[in-house]
Amino acid sequence: MEKLIFATGNKGKLREVKDIFDDSGIEIMAPFELGKDIEVEETEATFEGNAFLKAEAIFNEFKLPVVADDSGLEVEQLNGDPGVYSARYAGKNCTFDDNNNKLIKELSSLPQPHKARFVSCAVFFDGENRLIATGYLYGIIIDEKRGTNGFGYDPIFVPDGFDLTISEMSFDQKNSISHRKVSFEKLKELLKSV
Ligand code: IMP
Repeated sequence: MEKLIFATGNKGKLREVKDIFDDSGIEIMAPFELGKDIEVEETEATFEGNAFLKAEAIFNEFKLPVVADDSGLEVEQLNGDPGVYSARYAGKNCTFDDNNNKLIKELSSLPQPHKARFVSCAVFFDGENRLIATGYLYGIIIDEKRGTNGFGYDPIFVPDGFDLTISEMSFDQKNSISHRKVSFEKLKELLKSV
């Protein structure tokens, strides 16, 4: 297997996953790099369900092996919200900044620390085989945005054992500890059996 399509339109995720597969001899390509920007509606209630929705839709389009991840942020005091709705927490077509502002506001009346974890459910589908691997990154949500790197909730998330938000970390530092690093490293291992 030399080429895998990564079912994403998120350039931040794409850069991370390309880097994770850099040492594997497998080339990662996004649909938009192949001339097709495909939007898949995430209608399932679980990360795994949504990851397979994306993988199957992209497989059906290209008939090539696909990896996908559905990811999000789970906040303990909000019973796991925003969870699978992380991308559209502040509403349809909202920005990352809108989501961060909404979360800071929701948590402002609750006691600190606001414990949270990022989840990435990475899957593989080639029309026949299905593989699943999950990764987590634990930390806290802070009440101000700090840093400019990364995407999504990175400016307000401080991983356990660090003083920096993910947005204050370098790309390499994030990509050595992230939920996506954990899930896709596991998936890379599982792929050796396909
Ligand atoms: P997905 O494209 O449906 O998997 O949406 C994932 C959403 O979860 C993103 O839009 C972000 O809001 C959030 N998210 C997932 N991974 C990360 C991350 O590494 N950093 C910050 N936010 C993330």
